[in-house]
Amino acid sequence: MTHAAESPKLLARPVPKTGEAIPAVGLGTWQVFDVAGDAKELEQARETLKTFAQLGGRLVDSSPMYGSSESVTGQLAVELGVRSKLFIATKVWTSGKQAGIRQMEDSMKKLRVERLDLMQVHNLVDAPTHLATLREWKKTGRVRYIGVTHYNASAHEELERFIRPGDIDFVQVNYSLAEPEAGQRLLRAAADSRTAVIVNRPFAEGAMFGRVKGKPLPAWAREIGVASWAQLFLKWILAHPAVTCAIPGTRNPRHVADNLGAASTPLPDEAMRSMMSDYFNSL
Ligand SMILES: NC(=O)c1ccc[n+]([C@@H]2O[C@H](COP(=O)([O-])OP(=O)(O)OC[C@H]3O[C@@H](n4cnc5c(N)ncnc54)[C@H](OP(=O)(O)O)[C@@H]3O)[C@@H](O)[C@H]2O)c1
Repeated sequence: MTHAAESPKLLARPVPKTGEAIPAVGLGTWQVFDVAGDAKELEQARETLKTFAQLGGRLVDSSPMYGSSESVTGQLAVELGVRSKLFIATKVWTSGKQAGIRQMEDSMKKLRVERLDLMQVHNLVDAPTHLATLREWKKTGRVRYIGVTHYNASAHEELERFIRPGDIDFVQVNYSLAEPEAGQRLLRAAADSRTAVIVNRPFAEGAMFGRVKGKPLPAWAREIGVASWAQLFLKWILAHPAVTCAIPGTRNPRHVADNLGAASTPLPDEAMRSMMSDYFNSL
């Protein structure tokens, strides 16, 4: 039996500059895939990536900042035979042209790819230097897409300056009911410049689950087809038209399946989103 036959159709969004469709929920690997030294945790990561790919997930996000996450992702993708199904994103996180090139080449080895789907400048560290290299790499086909990331609202203005000219393919940024600031300007700037948006910290690093602990889902959750708090949080994000993909971090196969369940319609409309914000802020 093929995995494709088992996969439900996930809601996908086009990368604005190419039209390539990407499932709207991906997988973050910070902390959760930094498990090279622990057999039990490595097995959990394997089951998580297996479930993710079986259910049709594609975008996996890593970074050289995430310990063994890149090598664990590369190893498991090859062992599970899912490498070609995945859209692999990682980052460069150092200063200087040559140091950047060395680090990016090292990441490709660890991820076991000849060509990366997406290389992002992590937290804008020495961004002009690395973007100059990456524009060349894109021309020669070593990377398919280039991007910039940050995780904090204090950097949104700077991210906006990088994407405004329109030659960056992806911006990765924090956006959630708990951290909604990107909705004020940055997401509009992304839409205007046809920049794809990856949303990191969709659960504010898990803190949002603390806010709803022990609380039943509100009755209106049924109207937007959500079966869990995670799906409610993700659907609020995905309902923003500028968002391409949210990347919750997890090493739990049940959680990855739960999260992919949010890549589905119906999504909340503007009035519902605003009501959801009011509700979350009242907790
Ligand atoms: N500067 C940057 O570029 C930057 C910064 C931050 C993050 N990121 C990227 O964004 C990804 C996501 O951010 P994050 O990992 O910081 O935080 P997050 O995705 O907001 O939250 C992760 C936490 O949520 C829990 N979780 C996930 N799915 C769940 C579910 N269905 N039900 C209950 N709990 C669930 C996880 O626990 P379990 O493991 O128990 O599921 C984990 O503790 C990172 O992994 C990384 O790839 C990038």
